[in-house]
Amino acid sequence: MATRTVPLVDLGKQNAELRSEIDAAIAGVIDSGRFILGPEVAAFEEELAASCSAKFTVGVSSGTDALLLALMALGVGPGDEVVTSAFTFFATAGVIARLGATPVFADIETESFNLDPFAALAAVTPKTAAFMPVNLYGRLARLPPTDIPILEDSAQSVGCGTPRGLAAGYSFFPTKNVGALGDAGAVATNDEDFADKLRLLRTHGGRPKYFHAVVGGNFRIDALQAAVLRVKLRQLDTWNARRRTNAARYSELFATKNTSEIMTPEDSPEHIYHQYTIRVPERDALRDHLKEKGIATEIYYPQPLHLQECFADLGYKEGSLPCTEAAARTSLSIPIHAHLEADDQAYVVETIASFYG
Ligand SMILES: Cc1ncc(COP(=O)(O)O)c(C=O)c1O
Repeated sequence: MATRTVPLVDLGKQNAELRSEIDAAIAGVIDSGRFILGPEVAAFEEELAASCSAKFTVGVSSGTDALLLALMALGVGPGDEVVTSAFTFFATAGVIARLGATPVFADIETESFNLDPFAALAAVTPKTAAFMPVNLYGRLARLPPTDIPILEDSAQSVGCGTPRGLAAGYSFFPTKNVGALGDAGAVATNDEDFADKLRLLRTHGGRPKYFHAVVGGNFRIDALQAAVLRVKLRQLDTWNARRRTNAARYSELFATKNTSEIMTPEDSPEHIYHQYTIRVPERDALRDHLKEKGIATEIYYPQPLHLQECFADLGYKEGSLPCTEAAARTSLSIPIHAHLEADDQAYVVETIASFYG
């Protein structure tokens, strides 16, 4: 039995810190009786836009729906291709396929885990309707120089700055750097017409109400989630700064050990360390060792998307995307959350070093 435990995330501590403000925000929505859109959602969208230096944000039901809605607003559909990464959460490609379009997977860069912009450009065909690079683990992907619209999957990178392409989709899944008390997401854009299309499609494409020139869906964020997120958003910069401090501490701690087998993540100024992901040999055995010692870890992601059974008809094979496949075999995310203690980090590094020593 491990004498000590280090969880991957600690939502208890995070919520306890803000509990009275969260309770007041929820009570405010209940008292207002406005549960669908309304002033809380409008205020949340304004505050989120300010916090990510975007002109417009549109609150939606999840990060998945943020990406789906952005693709719908761009008019992506059957016959279109969208170039993206296969080293990501399933939603990135799932939304493309759900619209009848084809995900086209290009390889990643080993150091950043993100889509290689030149591999992405090489995958362009006359059918390419968009690029969907993923800002994985809180680090911005390098973008391809292109006129083709770019929709960033920034689900893991809220607080990384303004959308660099046409739009960026954010997730507020509870374990994200800023998390709702349930599902929520948003699309950020600097394009006013695009923001207008997003808002229209978010409510079934009805404008005026009950008159539909286009088919949308119900993609609204709950007012309750918006109210809670307004409280948490005020902490985002502080929490992200703490994650950066924790990342720097890990890198220093690893440097003191004889752990040449371990590749620590490459830093970049905007990195907000949604995950601190190392690359290691004997990854699965190390993970078991850490579990025995009470340290939680996760593999994001063990099966790359081009090798998922549901995409078998796309014709990718083992070996199609070597850097992606190597990342899936060797990467391991260790605890990095904003409420992590320095001595827990020392314990994590000590325990990893003891496995290789
Ligand atoms: C890279 C990436 N894309 C999309 C999503 C989907 O977000 P959500 O879970 O809020 O639907 C997530 C989060 O889980 C994610 O990590």
